[in-house]
Amino acid sequence: MQLGPHALTPFRPGMPILTLAPMAGVGNWVFRLICARLGARLVGVEFINCRTIAEGSRRSERLLDFCDAQIYVQTGISLLAAQIYGNDLDLIAQGAREFERRGAQVVDINFGCSVPQLLRKGCGAAYLRDLDRLYRAVRQTVEAVQVPVMVKTRIGWDQDSINILEVVRRVEGAGARAIAIHARTVVQKYQGRADWDWIARAREVATIPVLGNGDVFSYEDALRMQQHTGCQAVMIGRAAMANPWIFAGRRGASLRERIALAVEQVRLMAQYKGERVGVLETRKHLALYFKGLPRTSQLRLRILRTEELGGLVSLLEEWGQSLAADAEADLTLSAAEAGALGWGSTG
Ligand SMILES: Cc1cc2nc3c(=O)[nH]c(=O)nc-3n(C[C@H](O)[C@H](O)[C@H](O)COP(=O)(O)O)c2cc1C
Repeated sequence: MQLGPHALTPFRPGMPILTLAPMAGVGNWVFRLICARLGARLVGVEFINCRTIAEGSRRSERLLDFCDAQIYVQTGISLLAAQIYGNDLDLIAQGAREFERRGAQVVDINFGCSVPQLLRKGCGAAYLRDLDRLYRAVRQTVEAVQVPVMVKTRIGWDQDSINILEVVRRVEGAGARAIAIHARTVVQKYQGRADWDWIARAREVATIPVLGNGDVFSYEDALRMQQHTGCQAVMIGRAAMANPWIFAGRRGASLRERIALAVEQVRLMAQYKGERVGVLETRKHLALYFKGLPRTSQLRLRILRTEELGGLVSLLEEWGQSLAADAEADLTLSAAEAGALGWGSTG
């Protein structure tokens, strides 16, 4: 798949191209890097309001920390797509320039967010009700930056006003280089099922790559979506939070690998956000990594209650060491696979 000057290839031959969806509160550089190393070929940054960028603050500095982008440029393992949203077209274009200055390889404009407060302000999916404004937002941003611009959107406002095919035409005309489609309407939010037929229809009319999104909960789902729709890439959100190994085409990972990842993630998050916030913000992932595994419930609870980095890391490491050397060997990555993923060690 071609995204502007970038050629994206599958992590392994025969796999679909898998990408990490932008997710607020999740898509920080630590999690992006984890997903990229496991096989996500494009990683979405959590969305940033164009005004937040213009005003500048400690929070915006943190959101604009694209330190992982350098690694992607050097290694070619992934692309960083920074996502902007807002209702001021000049500020969107200006924010896109700031993204570019800070190393984003792709600028993504959010036309899909269905949060009522943002819709009321004319942000996110509100643009689906005014395609001239949507066109201008894309056009102005494309003119402001050298890097490719993509958009992420939904299929329409409601069941009676599905306009994704017109949206595809407009964003292409405005110069966008790819479109990610969450196959739900705005009114649906996250309810009901994503209607992949609309991704297939969009794919038929689009001349730019289509990234299909919505309700991919396993690697098998990703294969099904690609077969059903012909989309050039599959974008994965919620499933990646519990199972970032999905990007390597895996159902999950051994307990040993989960523990190793948890240790690495919480350490990096502490570096990024400070110990307390780092530990707290990693919990949602840890809760998911250790959910439903046999004989882990007591330990899982202790892990989720520990607030201090040193204590948490010791707990995880002792747990890892206590596992029999051959435990779940069938699920553990081979050394060659681990090397290919960029992890020094799996245990
Ligand atoms: C916690 C969370 C935060 C999200 N934040 C964003 C965001 O910042 N920008 C965006 O375009 N979509 C955002 N989304 C939507 C996802 O990118 C994706 O479109 C949606 O979850 C459907 O994909 P999935 O079924 O693979 O999860 C968010 C979703 C979740 C669950």
